[in-house]
Amino acid sequence: MVGTDTVGNVMAVAKRTFDVVVVGAGGAGMRAALQLAQAGLKVAVLSKVFPTRSHTVAAQGGIAASLGNVSEDNWLWHMYDTVKGSDYLGDQDAIEFMCRSAPEVVIELEHFGMPFDRLDSGKIYQRPFGGHMQDFGKVPVQRACAAADRTGHALLHTLYQQNVKANTHFFIEWMALDLIRDQDGDVLGVSALEIETGEVMNFHARSTLFATGGAGRIFQSSTNAFINTGDGLGMAARAGIPLEDMEFYQFHPTGVYGAGVLITEGVRGEGGYLVNKDGERFMPKYAPTAKDLASRDVVSRAMTIEINEGRGCGKHGDYVMLKLDHLGDDVIKQRLPGIREIALKFAHVDPAKSPIPVVPTAHYMMGGIPTNFHGQVVAPNKQGVEAVVNGLYAVGECACVSVHGANRLGCNSLLDLIVFGREAGRQIVADLKVNTVLKPLPADCDDRPLSRLARLEGQKNGERVPEVGEAMRRSMQKHCGVFRFPELLEQGVSKIYEIAERVKHTETADKSKIFNTARIEALELDNLIEVAQATMTAAAARKESRGAHARDDFQERDDENWLKHSLYYSAERKLEYKPVKLKPLTVESFPLKARVY
Ligand code: FUM
Repeated sequence: MVGTDTVGNVMAVAKRTFDVVVVGAGGAGMRAALQLAQAGLKVAVLSKVFPTRSHTVAAQGGIAASLGNVSEDNWLWHMYDTVKGSDYLGDQDAIEFMCRSAPEVVIELEHFGMPFDRLDSGKIYQRPFGGHMQDFGKVPVQRACAAADRTGHALLHTLYQQNVKANTHFFIEWMALDLIRDQDGDVLGVSALEIETGEVMNFHARSTLFATGGAGRIFQSSTNAFINTGDGLGMAARAGIPLEDMEFYQFHPTGVYGAGVLITEGVRGEGGYLVNKDGERFMPKYAPTAKDLASRDVVSRAMTIEINEGRGCGKHGDYVMLKLDHLGDDVIKQRLPGIREIALKFAHVDPAKSPIPVVPTAHYMMGGIPTNFHGQVVAPNKQGVEAVVNGLYAVGECACVSVHGANRLGCNSLLDLIVFGREAGRQIVADLKVNTVLKPLPADCDDRPLSRLARLEGQKNGERVPEVGEAMRRSMQKHCGVFRFPELLEQGVSKIYEIAERVKHTETADKSKIFNTARIEALELDNLIEVAQATMTAAAARKESRGAHARDDFQERDDENWLKHSLYYSAERKLEYKPVKLKPLTVESFPLKARVY
């Protein structure tokens, strides 16, 4: 087993052995790692960046939990809102599990030292957020537990400190390359590359947990960090694992126009609202009860309609305005200090004086690697029967549990990370008590990662990675946006398959000066293109409108034909479908009904 380092020296692939290897050090990965390390297991966490720079750091508005600190609340209302928000595609067993666990996991975070904002009573401060309502949809409720507008930042630092205390082993600036699966289909770890040196190493483990986050970088305009390149999904797809519900991609209503940077929904939670070029507050027309706090798909579509019908602002009429100057300096300084900085830096406006120009911006992938609510990856086996993939777990945005279905509610993402991070950790501890034997690595385990690296080094006269990446991002933006049109989708599928061929023939740079960053971008593009193909193909195939998937030619939800999850298989480029779990764990199902806010 040999590879080459950055300057072409032949070297053997080294191996390190752990009980568990966690890929990704965002909220989900670190919450799982903490559970595992505290149980005395030897845990490696691989991260492309320093852990506290993982994308969870960008989460602003809060984490949802029915604490009822400000207004009366209970977990069943939260569950109802989440099922409705998902446009009934969410699995109700997992949604019950998440909403019931929310108060406990948030209090646990508080005990870990998370610096939440406080009410005068000393309890955790909570603000309203889109789609979160009281009493089964009647009026908005204050459910988002917040640390100003930097909740993800506070969360990530808290979890990192706890992990350091628990002796988690961090491998910083390491990129996982591929899953190691043996001929029984069992997962035995990952191969990974140290970014600085180019060294390849196998992380051999009884359990592997993916917490690699989203893939917003498939789009041109995205709130996501540059590291969000769908690495877990790419690795899963190449290892024959299908990707679930990839057609559902959320556009956050308020990305800064021209920059994509997120302006938290917490701004609207604190009383901000959207206006068109006539200064009209337009959301009451589209969502009479929840108004600007309707769920994100509803608000993003309303904004797009305003723009398309000529009521957008600016020279090109292609954005709307988010108004918050009426909130007053004190609220902005105390509750939204980060937003002020972002508005000043990226939109050149002081939001205490002028509105912020905003547009719907790609934000969150509802689909992902299929799992049950214990974080175990489940996929059809060779006999076509759905089964757990031994040794493989996934949590957070890269996983599809599915609690978000066709549309996620704001603040349910941080919650998802923490609830399922902890639960996957608990499940792995239990599984490892039974699975005590570490199977040997298969003889061919280095073939895939080394051949990917060799392709990059050996490619002559190929296209440059940034150009091909740009073609992918432009195609996704044009063909698979807030509204989806039949011809554009069909063309989009052909285009994205064409681009996938181009990806195979990219080259990184002049061979005499290969920079690792160029190599990393090329490896990331291998993952992004898997996500892009799955998203476009599944979107073209789903002939209804549901949640974030809004088709011009099929404008209604079609429960008779489409109340089902999609599964996309990369090798065959084929789709299969499986039923939605409508039965919760202990309560009655929420019956299907029209979704109005
Ligand atoms: O608007 C926001 O603060 C984003 C939160 C989320 O995506 O959950």
